Amino acid sequence: MSDHLLQSEPPPKGMPLPRVAYVNGRYVAHRDAMVHVEDRGYQFADGVYEVCEVRGGRPVDERRHIDRLDRSLRELRITWPISRRALGVVVRETIRRNRVRYGIVYLQISRGVAPRDHAFPPAGTPSSLVVTAKSLDAAGNEAMAAAGIAVITVPENRWPRVDIKSISLLPNVLAKQAAREASAREAWFVDPSGHVTEGSSTNAWIVTRDGKLVTRPADHSILRGVTRTVLLEVIAAQGLTFDERPFTVEEAYVAREAFVTSASQIVMPVVSIDGRPVGNGAPGLVASALRRDFHRHAEIG
Ligand code: PDD
Repeated sequence: MSDHLLQSEPPPKGMPLPRVAYVNGRYVAHRDAMVHVEDRGYQFADGVYEVCEVRGGRPVDERRHIDRLDRSLRELRITWPISRRALGVVVRETIRRNRVRYGIVYLQISRGVAPRDHAFPPAGTPSSLVVTAKSLDAAGNEAMAAAGIAVITVPENRWPRVDIKSISLLPNVLAKQAAREASAREAWFVDPSGHVTEGSSTNAWIVTRDGKLVTRPADHSILRGVTRTVLLEVIAAQGLTFDERPFTVEEAYVAREAFVTSASQIVMPVVSIDGRPVGNGAPGLVASALRRDFHRHAEIG
């Protein structure tokens, strides 16, 4: 292990703690954390990322997130910047230096820094690695889950490989902004056949009138959410019926419940879609029970 992973201790408890980011081998003040203008992440959005929840100061489902990161890197032929084991050390150290108890850790790897040229840089160009961690407002998140969120629907306009967790997120950015402007928290993409693919940063679920959970199969048309994967175990443990198939917007309008899943929101009830109330317009019992039990099934390391 290289010694840049073992730098000085953070200030003692009680001292003001500036945020710290890991950038290409160094822990630096977050406000000065920068990548080169010719970083391919900046020039071409040529990179991948992961977001892990942090609970009790520990990353949640890290193994699955790093497995997915490895898959994204392989699909795009980007090399690992450091070993998988070293990345685990950096993740923990970044959480520790920022004293995050509850929040998220963000990892981004790009194809590195090289003179601008669309084709890959010369072999041996090191890929870039950035890791940041930030605290989230647990009470605020719980209040949001207790109230539920509104979603809108927008046409699917992303590339056909959204199973890769790429940092190229322009359609997602525009969709999320459209949601904000409609006083909603999330936008669901709808494919040309009228079926929901997923949210701009979440997977989409409904509970049908007869109590079946429905979410789209994890093919190339959605990101295989780690939260989605773990939730399948929670669903099995609760003895619920699960139907993995695409669902239409019309089905969602008349569903008993709807919710979204992601590492930062876990299970977030949806109480309105395109301005129409879902069920009785309040968070559903199924979504709330899944949210309550989720962390019994997650790996917290
Ligand atoms: N978003 N679909 C999309 C398009 C996403 O961006 C995400 C995650 C998910 C859910 O994946 P997971 O359960 O592994 O978090 C589905 C992260 C949180 C983000 O971009 O911030």
